[in-house]
Order: sequence, then C-alpha cells, then structure tokens
Amino acid sequence: MFKMGYFGLEPGICRLREEVLCHEEKATRAFYDGLLMAHRIALIGGDGIGPEVTAEAVKVVRATGVAIDTTDFDLGGMRYLRDGEILSDDVLNQLRGFDAILLGAVGTPDVPPGIIERGLLLKMRFDLDLYVNQRPFVGTAPGHVTPHDFVVIRENTEGPYVGEGGVLRRGTPHEIATQGSVNTRHGVERCIRYAFELAAKRERKHVTLVHKTNVLTFAGDLWQRAFNDVAAQFPQVGTAYNHVDAACIYFVEDPHRYDVIVTDNLFGDILTDLGGAVSGGIGLASSANLNPARTGPSMFEPSHGSAPDIVGTGKANPTAAILSAALMLDFLNESAAADRIRAACDTAPTGSTVDIGNAIAAIVAGK
Ligand code: IPM
Ligand code: MN
Repeated sequence: MFKMGYFGLEPGICRLREEVLCHEEKATRAFYDGLLMAHRIALIGGDGIGPEVTAEAVKVVRATGVAIDTTDFDLGGMRYLRDGEILSDDVLNQLRGFDAILLGAVGTPDVPPGIIERGLLLKMRFDLDLYVNQRPFVGTAPGHVTPHDFVVIRENTEGPYVGEGGVLRRGTPHEIATQGSVNTRHGVERCIRYAFELAAKRERKHVTLVHKTNVLTFAGDLWQRAFNDVAAQFPQVGTAYNHVDAACIYFVEDPHRYDVIVTDNLFGDILTDLGGAVSGGIGLASSANLNPARTGPSMFEPSHGSAPDIVGTGKANPTAAILSAALMLDFLNESAAADRIRAACDTAPTGSTVDIGNAIAAIVAGK
C-alpha cells in the first residue's frame, strides 16, 4: 500500500488517494477471496432435458448468493455418438479436482441400453466411491391427508450393479446368463453406519432395514448382522426390518411409518421410483450420490431420466434438479442456503421449465 506523502502531495489529497486505493485494494481482495472460496462445481448437463433443468438449478444456486465457480463437461449419449467419449480416465481425473458434480440426466434412445449407464453414471459412482445414494421423500401420498418425510439410503457401489456374471452360448437355445450380487461387509457396514448417523440427527431417530432376508439368505444374513452390529452402537436410534415387497405396500398405504430406510443397491433403485411416485411425482425426486469420506467430489442428480420426448418444449419440471442442488449445498456446508431453496420449492410454482426456475430463484433471492 502506498504511504501518505509518498508523492509529495498535500496531506488532504494524499488522504483522498489513500482512501481510493484502500477501497480498490479491498475490492481486489474480496474478488480474490471470492474466487478462492467459491465452490468449484463440475456441470454435466448431459442429454435430453438434462441441460435445461441443470441451467435452472445453477440459476437458483446463484440466487442464494453462495459463490460457485462452474465448469461445463460435455458428456452423455450425444457426446458418445459424436466422438466415442463416454468417461475417459483423463476426464474422470479432472472431475476429481472439483468440490461437487451436478448432473442433469444422461441417455438417448440412439445408444443401446447400458453403455452410458455403465460407462458414465455407474463409473462415476464406483470410481469416485460414491457409496451412499441419498434420496429424500417429502410429500402427501395419494389417499393420505398428512405429509410423510422419509429418506432412503441406497447402497450405491455394490449389489447386482457391480456387473458380476456373464453369458454363455448367447443367442442359442442353450444360452446361460448369470448376474451376481456382491455384498462386502465393509461396503454394507459403511452404508448402514451412514444411515444411523443421519437418523441420529433427525427428529424421529429411526432406521428401517429393507431387504429380502427370507429368500436372499446369504446377502440378507450379512446385511442383517451388519445392521444389528451398527444399531448396537446407536442405542438412541430405533430400528425395524421390512421385506422389500412388504415395503412397497407400506410406501403406498402407510408411508408415515418411515424415517430413514437403508437398503441394497437394486432394491433401493426400485423402491425410490415408488418413493417418487407417492411423493408428488418423479419430477420432484432429488438425489445425492455421496462419498461421505470426502476422498473426492460427490455427485448430485435428479432421479428422473433425460425424457427426450419433451426436450425443448419447456415442459420439464426443474424442481428435482433444483432440490438436488440443495442437497449439494447441504454437503458443501451451505445448509442455510439449501433450506431457503427447499422452502421456495414448497411453493410449487407452475409454468415452463424457465418460469419455474425463475420463480424459485426470485423467492430464494428475496425478490
Ligand atoms: C437411478 C437410475 C440409474 C440406476 C440408471 C440410469 C443406471 O435408474 O439413478 O435410479 O439404476 O441407478
Ligand atoms: Mn432408478
């Protein structure tokens, strides 16, 4: 900083000059502080309505005043069709450098099933060790009058999703296909522990294990014992067990019984679609793919798909993407901003994709 009198000017002028410089210096410092403290977000808009809903989510996050520094990644089915890139190790390593990843939706009808799902989405879940898939459900189920409020914690890196198995004599009458389910004590236990830690912070403090222990006796036994062992360390948290088929009935008939549910990867996938259906529709269903150990970025995405049939029509509801961005802010320790977003979404604005995003952004910004 320049010292007064440096230029041999009269003291008054010097003071003025000093004030101006101080002001400039402060502004410069604030600018760099802003850059340093801004959360670095990798944006994967993806395919179909993905980019439309992600744009609204970013708009709403910016309206909270939380500083984010976004970088776009062109990935998904359309990119794959263009030049074959799905998710190279190089791009994956770039993603590791971010604080979080915000994803719209991936998949296009022109690419056969499995290629983008396995090569992009599941690769991120596995390689970034996003072992918890957290899906909150708040809403009033059809035929009910009071809202329910529960969270499904879906194991996200094991089970039938790992791709164990294979095919023999494909296309012949003697074809054999097997698809195993991998359950490790480590993987199961860390997911269950996360569910209990979450429940301990919630008002009702209750965890239900959902599985199919009466048929999947090997995996079910491992899950049940891991659950019992973790539960013993959380005496303040109540517990229950439901078979997954029964849980489907309870989701519809008695969703209020649930607080936190913990379940295996495939059961969690199916159950959370039903969770969306009984909580106002899949257009509101948010999800967080978490690496709670924070050894890398976590990934946030709406539960819905790329809906290519409505792309460009303005019919896509961006609320699920916006609520997923709120989960991202929770994970980045910006819960006050996240709560403001959730409160704004509760007003359920209507209109086009952009109308809904604008309305939520305006409430969040206090306009
Ligand atoms: C989900 C989706 C994915 C899954 C698909 C797209 C691979 O359905 O996130 O629920 O099965 O996990
Ligand atoms: Mn699913």
